[in-house]
Order: sequence, then structure tokens, then C-alpha cells
Amino acid sequence: MFGLGAGKSVVGLDIGSSSIKAIELKRSKGEIVVSHLGVEPLASDIVVDSMIVDSGSVSSAISKIFAAHGIKTKSVATSVSGHSVIVKKIGVQPMSEAELAESINTEAAQHIPFDIADVNVDFEILNPDDTGPQMDVLLVAVKKDKILNYTNVLSLSGKAPAIVDIDAFALQNCYEYNYSPSHDTTVALLNLGASVMNINIVKGTTPLFTRDVSVGGNQYTDSLQKELDLSFDDAESLKLGKRVGTVSEDAKQPILQQVTEIIVLEIQKTFDFFRATASGEHIERIYIAGGSSKVPGLVDALRQEFSMPVEVLNPFQRIMPPADSLENDILDQNPGQLAVAVGLALRSFDDL
Ligand SMILES: Nc1ncnc2c1ncn2[C@@H]1O[C@H](COP(=O)(O)OP(=O)(O)OP(=O)(O)O)[C@@H](O)[C@H]1O
Ligand SMILES: [Mg+2]
Repeated sequence: MFGLGAGKSVVGLDIGSSSIKAIELKRSKGEIVVSHLGVEPLASDIVVDSMIVDSGSVSSAISKIFAAHGIKTKSVATSVSGHSVIVKKIGVQPMSEAELAESINTEAAQHIPFDIADVNVDFEILNPDDTGPQMDVLLVAVKKDKILNYTNVLSLSGKAPAIVDIDAFALQNCYEYNYSPSHDTTVALLNLGASVMNINIVKGTTPLFTRDVSVGGNQYTDSLQKELDLSFDDAESLKLGKRVGTVSEDAKQPILQQVTEIIVLEIQKTFDFFRATASGEHIERIYIAGGSSKVPGLVDALRQEFSMPVEVLNPFQRIMPPADSLENDILDQNPGQLAVAVGLALRSFDDL
């Protein structure tokens, strides 16, 4: 998306609200291999509403990951999500890419709810080979203060922000490399993190509909905390399958299920909206990524509700795991939470 040094080696750095993930990939004997991988947890008041509110803590966490995992590369690809990100398909008069680059701000001003002076705009022509009366253009606009919020923190930790992507596209990049979809396969990619769910409905390699919803794993933790009168940390431990006091599995399951129902409803609303606006497109399969894809019962609930195959997205389907056994353990614990970081790290290779 924004700013690029195509083909340059970059570290994929996903600054999530519950943890920072860093991945560096390399090419070895014709394969893509993880050379370094690290995750550093963040306290809940450091990244709030997809904005970094405590730059110092994020910057130290980044430095810590790079030092602990021997990551030497300074160029970084990161991504943003949430309210300050707009992704929209628009129709414009047919014109060349260069002409569109000239007029994109004028076009964008008619479609986004922010002052055009406050956003960075990028675009992709979705049907370059069509000769119809209208060109489909994917418009991406991100508030400048959001981009600065992330790039300033990277600079603070001595890294060079080479690419600022959006979570939904990094997720798609990870999917495309690992699953090599055929051009007419339509799937829904979900990334259920701690505070945000990115939804990206993709046909082949074209994003048809993208939306970020403010739901995530924190909601499970909050409900367990309230209903069972626990601290946030105890509720989080309980959610992760650890024993907490005398709380039984029987007490936990229905609470998790209630939150799952809320999340399923959000997905349903998005699918309904998509179906109402995209004529005749049919979602065939759901891939779910993000740390919260591991919530017990969630995948089954999605299968039942949507009557289609649902799979946890494996970011390492076509990528060799790291040689280091500690890094391998991090990967094994929850591969789904690394999908965005993998999608960003894959930006190192412009020929995939
Ligand atoms: N085994 C597990 N079972 C249930 N939930 C889990 C498990 N492992 C991690 N999680 C949850 O996944 C969430 C973290 O996922 P992820 O790392 O994708 O989020 P994030 O990128 O930090 O947050 P966001 O993108 O929403 O800002 C947390 O809510 C965490 O509790
Ligand atoms: Mg995330």
C-alpha cells in the first residue's frame, strides 16, 4: 500500500493490541523459510482502539523482540486497521493508471467521510482489461495521523518504516501465498484478534468487501471476568485453558458460547450486507486467523451457522518453520495469530 521499496527485505511487524509479532522470511533453496520470529505481549492500555497510546512501551517492546531474536534488518512493513481506514470499491470513468493517479484525490473526496487533506490515498484498478463504460477501482484511504502514529513509533525504535499496509490486505497476502486460490474461488477471511475482527471477502486475488468490526477475544475475557467475578488476568488465564481457583469447565463454556453468538451475528451482518451489494457472489469457505480463532467451539459454531467449510488459516502452509526451537514453540502455540505478520513479511518478495 503506502510507500514501497519493492523487493527490499522487510521484517513483518504486526502491532496488535495484545501483542507485537515480528517475522522475517528468507529464501533458501527455492523455498520461503522463517529466519526469525518473535512475539512480545502488550498490556491492555498501550494500544487502544487501534491507536498506539503509549509509544514508549511499544518502541521498547519492538527493540526487545529484535534483540531477543537477533533480527538485524531495519526495514519494516507494518499495518493499521480500525476506524481511520476506509476501503471502498468505486466506479470511475475509464482512464489510464497515470491519469487516475492524478485525479484520485478528487474521486476519493466524493467517497470518504474525512477531509481529503487529512488522509493518504492509494488505489488499485480491479478490472484493467475490461473495456466497459466504467472502471472498478479499489480505493484505500487512511488518516495521516494514524500512519504517523505507527511510523513515529517505528522511528523511535530505530526502524525504517518501508511499508504501511492495512491488516485486511496483509491477511489476504498471507492467504494468497499459502493457498494459491483459483481466480473464481470466493472466500471470507476473518482475523479475530483481541479487540478487532478484520473481515475480507476475496474472489481469487481480488478483495470484494472489507470491514473491521470492534469485537475480539477481549470480549470473552470481559464476560468471564464479569460473570465469574474474576480479575482480568485470571479471566484471561481461564479462557486460555488454565485452571483458575475452583472455576469449572461447566461454568466457563456457556459464557464463551454467548460471546461466540455475538461474534457470529457480526459476521452474519457483514455477509448479509455483502450479499445485498455484490450481485450473485457466493462465499464458499471461511478461513479464520487471529489469536482468538482458538476459542473452543468457535469454529464449530461458524460451521453450523453458515453451513460451509470453515478452516483455521495456516500461515505456514507453504512456509518452512524456523530452525530455532524456541521460535518454533511460539509458532506452534498459536500459528493463526501470526497471519498478518506473515502477510507483511511476504512483501519482501515481489515475485511470488
Ligand atoms: N488458546 C487460546 N484460546 C483462546 N483465545 C486465545 C488463545 N490464544 C490467544 N487467544 C486470544 O487471542 C487474542 C490475541 O490475538 P491476536 O494476537 O490475533 O490479537 P492482536 O493482534 O494482539 O489484537 P488486535 O488485532 O485485535 O488489536 C487475545 O484476546 C487472546 O486472549
Ligand atoms: Mg491483530
